[in-house]
Amino acid sequence: MKLSYNVDLKSRNTFGMAVRAAAFLEYDSVQELADLLSDGRFAGELPLPLLHIGGGSNLLFTGDFPGTVLHSRIRLMTPLPAEGENFRIRVGAGVVWDEFCAWAASEGFWGPENLSLIPGEAGAAAVQNIGAYGREVCELIETVECYDVLRHRPVSLPAAECGYGYRDSRFKNEWKGRYIVTAVVFRLSRSYRPVLDYGHVGQALEAACGSGPYTPQQVRDTVIAIRKNKLPDPAETGSAGSFFRNPFVLPEQYARVERIAAQEGLGPVPHFLMDDGTVKIPAAWLIDKCGWKGQRRGNAGVWPVQPLVLVNATGTATPDEILALEEAVIASVRTRFGIVLRPEVEHI
Ligand code: EPU
Repeated sequence: MKLSYNVDLKSRNTFGMAVRAAAFLEYDSVQELADLLSDGRFAGELPLPLLHIGGGSNLLFTGDFPGTVLHSRIRLMTPLPAEGENFRIRVGAGVVWDEFCAWAASEGFWGPENLSLIPGEAGAAAVQNIGAYGREVCELIETVECYDVLRHRPVSLPAAECGYGYRDSRFKNEWKGRYIVTAVVFRLSRSYRPVLDYGHVGQALEAACGSGPYTPQQVRDTVIAIRKNKLPDPAETGSAGSFFRNPFVLPEQYARVERIAAQEGLGPVPHFLMDDGTVKIPAAWLIDKCGWKGQRRGNAGVWPVQPLVLVNATGTATPDEILALEEAVIASVRTRFGIVLRPEVEHI
C-alpha cells in the first residue's frame, strides 16, 4: 500500500490536466482495501471524499481534488475452471486493459480483440461498459467482483445484474460509491467468432489478410491500425477518447436533422435504428457538420480526424479551457440541429 499527500495528477489522467489531489492511495489486494475501508485505521488520515480511478482515461478533473484518490494495483490474471467451450479468467481491476487484450489474442482466444487499444484498466472497463467496433465488454463478462463499501464485504455480481447498456451500468448510477470493482471474470472462446460487421473493420481485415478465416491477433492488429488512424496517440496528445455520447433521438428529431441536412446540402445523415424505436446519430457527424474539426480554443482543441474527441492540444490546457470548448460544441450542435449532446467523460 502506498499513501502520498498533495499529489500531482497530471500523469494519472490521460487528458493531462495539471491538477492536484490532497492524497493518493494505491492498494495491492482486496484485503488491503477491506482493512482500509473497514477498520478505521485510516480515519482522519485520509482526506475526504474518496474517488476511485482506473487509468484516468475517461474523466476530466475540473479542478484540484480535495479528497483521496484511490487506485488498485490488483494485477492478477488467474485462469478458472472452463465451462463447456468457455475459457474463464479472473482479471484484477488494475490490469491494463490492452495488456489483457494482447494476451488473449496471443493465446488465440476470441473475445476482446475488437476492444484492443482502448486506454484504461480492467476494473473501469466493467464500470464504463467500454465498447468499440460492434462489441461491448459486457458481452464477455461473467461476474464482477467488488468490495461492498456499505456492508464491508466482498461480493460477486453476475453481469446480468449490472444493468449494462450503451456506455452505462448500475456502477455509474445507483451503485455509485457503493461498490469498488476488484476483479472481473471474463469468458473467452477458442471457437471462431469474429465480429466484423462494424464500419470497415471487415474490409480492412480482408485488405490486410485476405479472405480469412482470421485469427484473433489479425483482428486485433486491424483494429489497432484503424484506431491509430483515427484517434490521438495518448503518448503525444492528451484526451479522454470520445468526449460525448452518441445521441439516441426520437424519429421526429431525426426527421428534423434530415430536413436540415437536405436544405443545407450536408449529404446523407448516418444513422442506426434501435430496437426501442429511437435513432442513433453519430455525434461525430453532428460536430463535424458544425465545422469543429481541428478547431482550437486556446490550448483545447477538437481532434481533426474524429471530432468526437476533445484534446489537450498543447499539453498545457486547463480544465476551464476544456469546459469552455465543451460548452461551445454543445451550444452549436443544439442551435443547428436541436440535439443536446451529453458528455460521456465523467467530470470530477
Ligand atoms: N463521422 C463523421 N465525421 C468524422 C468522423 C466520423 O461524420 O470526422 C461519422 C461517420 O458517419 C462515421 C460515424 O461518425 O461513420 C461513426 O464514427 P466512428 O466509427 O469513429 O464511431 P463513433 O460512433 O464516432 C464510437 C465510440 C468510440 C469507438 C468507435 C468505434 C462512442 C461515444 N464512441 O465512436 O469509442 O472507438 O465507436 O466503435 O460511442 C471512446 O469511447 O473513447 C471511443 C473512441
